[in-house]
Amino acid sequence: MANSANVVIVGAQWGDEAKGKLVDFLACNASMVVRYGGGNNAGHTVTANGIEYKFHLIPAGILNPDILCIVGSGVVIDPGVLVKEIEGLVNRGVSVANLKLSSAAHVILPYHRLLDELEERGRGASKIGTTGRGIGPAYADKSNRYGIRLSEFVCPEVFAARVRAVVAEKNLIIEKVYGEAPLDADQIIAEYTPYAEALKPFCSEIAPLVYDAASHGKGVIFEGAQGTLLDIDLGTYPYVTSSHPIAGGACLGTGIGPTLIDSVVGVAKGYTTRVGSGVFPTELLDERGDYIRERGHEYGTTTGRPRRCGWLDTVILRFAVKVNGMTALSLGHLDVLTGMNEVQICVAYRNAEGELINDLPSDLVTNAGYTPVYETLPGWHEDVSNARTAEELPANARAYVARVQALCGVPIAAISVGPGREQTILDAEVMQKVQTRRQWV
Ligand code: IMP
Repeated sequence: MANSANVVIVGAQWGDEAKGKLVDFLACNASMVVRYGGGNNAGHTVTANGIEYKFHLIPAGILNPDILCIVGSGVVIDPGVLVKEIEGLVNRGVSVANLKLSSAAHVILPYHRLLDELEERGRGASKIGTTGRGIGPAYADKSNRYGIRLSEFVCPEVFAARVRAVVAEKNLIIEKVYGEAPLDADQIIAEYTPYAEALKPFCSEIAPLVYDAASHGKGVIFEGAQGTLLDIDLGTYPYVTSSHPIAGGACLGTGIGPTLIDSVVGVAKGYTTRVGSGVFPTELLDERGDYIRERGHEYGTTTGRPRRCGWLDTVILRFAVKVNGMTALSLGHLDVLTGMNEVQICVAYRNAEGELINDLPSDLVTNAGYTPVYETLPGWHEDVSNARTAEELPANARAYVARVQALCGVPIAAISVGPGREQTILDAEVMQKVQTRRQWV
């Protein structure tokens, strides 16, 4: 079915929900995929014609030459990483003629990576557990109006002048606060000039392109990175990333208004994972967590770090439903839960006074007094990876999915039972709604 709708794909948990698979699926019927936030702290693997491609910045969809792939203004770009991704594609015979980069996106430079590392070290026991890619310092510079945009980066004189000024400032912090050796601006300019030359042809005004496609019913997929609970404003602050993974970030990070968005699909796993530090009420620190980690290959795509694993938390999902205006949910990794005698779903929290809490409490990060309230359901032992319809799932798996849907209050559009494109069970009626345009403009 042709997708004329503008759909936001958003992570409903703490990232790594396999959003790329849904983006890839929906992109087949769209004209454009726009990544709206984050940087190379994210990572996704796309397999096409048996070949595996790993991306950190390039949107899923690049392998389809008929789709325009855009890196939005809300993304922070590490030029070296992006050039490597582009070269990787070209070397394998994939055209990148359909790639565009917002000239308003900010660039990550060596001082961002260095400061990310030094700041984390300085936090000691309360470190965030960042990916070390310079993401936080790059967004901080943007907010502080110190950042260097792609439009400046690709202009040699402007870039050289800006880097010299910023490095002089950063060196004061690097030397005087952290006692480390200063950076050499000329060396950065020499190293990054070839990247600027390589990226210049892709640099573009993207807001008019996105508006044109979105307002003329051509179908735009807004690809989120990370997840709702990592949002700088609405996530589990301060253990968050520095951008806006939530659906609202799609407007901020691409330059379109909210009325152009037709639907929001939240992507969640059938359990919960988290990388880095911070609160995680349903974390399993026993062999059940290890079971999920090993079966689900729960190791970071970007850093290789083992992910913390735990039961599905519907307090978090209901929060994600609300703050994203979620119209449908995609529930993935159901195959990973196969083989457990029973599965648990967190339906609420209980506070220290014994009261039931249904909505995500704003002091969750600082108040250790919340404990999860679980419902226990029978597990399933059958292999679900070959199921292509809900009827082909074992009854216990079906009951699990139905309970998740009831607890979240939004319809489940897709159930994923494996990484392959075909390993997806769709609810045609819900999908139809997701892909239907609401014509405001
Ligand atoms: P940063 O984005 O590198 O600053 O990291 C901040 C927090 O967000 C850390 O806990 C990271 O582990 C987490 N994080 C950032 N990107 C991702 C992602 O793509 N998946 C999961 N966690 C992420």
